Amino acid sequence: MTNVAAIDPTTCIAWDSLLGISQASSETTIRALLDSDPNRPAELSHEAAGIYADFSRHRVSKQALGALFELAEQTNVLGLRDSMFAGEHINTTEGRAVLHIALRMPREASLVVDGVDVVPQIHEVLDRMGEFSDAVRSGTWTGATGQRITDVVNIGIGGSDLGPAMAYLALQHYRDDAIRCHFVSNVDPSDVGEVLSVLDPNTTLFIVASKTFTTLETMTNAAQSRSWLVSALGESAVSKHFVAVSTNAAEVTSFGIDVKHMFGFWDWVGGRYSMESAIGLSTMVAIGKENYTDLLHGFHAMDEHFKNAPVERNLPLLMGLLSVWNRDFLKVPTTAVLPYSQYLSRFPAYLQQLTMESNGKSVRRDGRPVSYDTGGIYWGEPGTNGQHSFYQMLHQGTSTIACDLIVIAQSAHNLGDQQDILVANALAQAAVLSLGRTAEEVRADGTAPELVAHKVMPGNRPTTVFMMQKLDPCTLGALVALYEHSVFVQGAIWGINSFDQWGVELGKKVALGILADLRAETSKDSLLDAASVADIDKYLSLK
Ligand code: F6P
Repeated sequence: MTNVAAIDPTTCIAWDSLLGISQASSETTIRALLDSDPNRPAELSHEAAGIYADFSRHRVSKQALGALFELAEQTNVLGLRDSMFAGEHINTTEGRAVLHIALRMPREASLVVDGVDVVPQIHEVLDRMGEFSDAVRSGTWTGATGQRITDVVNIGIGGSDLGPAMAYLALQHYRDDAIRCHFVSNVDPSDVGEVLSVLDPNTTLFIVASKTFTTLETMTNAAQSRSWLVSALGESAVSKHFVAVSTNAAEVTSFGIDVKHMFGFWDWVGGRYSMESAIGLSTMVAIGKENYTDLLHGFHAMDEHFKNAPVERNLPLLMGLLSVWNRDFLKVPTTAVLPYSQYLSRFPAYLQQLTMESNGKSVRRDGRPVSYDTGGIYWGEPGTNGQHSFYQMLHQGTSTIACDLIVIAQSAHNLGDQQDILVANALAQAAVLSLGRTAEEVRADGTAPELVAHKVMPGNRPTTVFMMQKLDPCTLGALVALYEHSVFVQGAIWGINSFDQWGVELGKKVALGILADLRAETSKDSLLDAASVADIDKYLSLK
């Protein structure tokens, strides 16, 4: 296993300083921090790659921020960053480089990994994707009966689904209306069943997207879709209606897809970091290769910023450091992602995998257990919908929840002042979450005394406001890369490997054992515990 040193952050002098600062400032409020320093918003707001980030509503003093920068230095965050950009094998438990940053490098760049320049390979695949998506969009690529493709079904799960599904909604405004994309992920037969029930085999193209091409859900849904197609159009139709995105040519071939219809990527692209690899094929078909290139430019611009910007205004670094501060020193367990954009309705779901599969770990890279909190819980819904659902808890619940508000200045739909109404709500929430409302202020409103306690708003919720002029392919790429690198910074400080996911393996294995029992209609041979045996028996009696 490659040895990338994992420093225990609690042994760093800066960790002790941060503990001291957080204890000494436990009564400090965000309101007081803002009141005492009129320059705070200007000093704590920075812009990169079209993304403006206002960190001034965090409960962090200049002293704490200074100690966080020291912690980054003492845990060698930038050293690990440079190792990633150099193609070193920083995914130690899988012995791999971590090179999603290469996927968005321009054609003229070069990055030699294990003796091979990976950039030409990447652009070769991008060029093939471009030719293919042009052919589908123009109608040159037809189904087996000569009809144009009107519906594309991406079959994948996890990183092979969430990024494309999120981007398809986010970039709706940029897509070709003549082609609809559908996303089948769940092994629940209702998922594929509902999608297939409205499609015409003559005009449907399936993209089977799986890095490994062995994932149970994806292969089950792909086999089901193949049978549906073959029963309508015959075996010979498969080559015109199925393409694959994978790293596993052997499995693609044995599924019956010719490798000339396979778009490859590499083991150094993690599933949750793959939306701009060939896994983005459905995105490219939907928005076209020029827009897809803009998406890559956005990613790359944020990569360059992360790599080169000074620490004091390096957005992913600041965002990652503040996340560590919130998690380990302010004991904030969770972050609500609140996009004020209906287009970003799947962005929180996408981030759940990115953040929690990456940093939901409790041993360091050297296998030693951590003695501090690591990855927080990420979840969310678009505003303003969430305001009428769970915001009550954000404002007055007993747990402090950090909030990321994402604001877009220009709507794709110019409908009166509706965008102003949306943005006014976002900014109002940012103010209320961070400042709250004291009992004195509530009383001054003339509130009945017995209601005062109910109307007090504690505020002090660490709140970030992200703003961009418009949600286009470029800014979407930059936004995703910002979160990716923030996740990287957090994992680097915690000394964990943000790029493996061993925790998901056991459940898959146990499921196969239970499936064998279900198929045999007995739980007798199972080595499972008594509760599982009872549940299996109950299921068999009910089905
Ligand atoms: O089960 C977790 C996981 O391995 C994710 O990391 C990955 O994105 C997903 O499954 C899908 O994997 P594949 O692309 O190999 O089908």
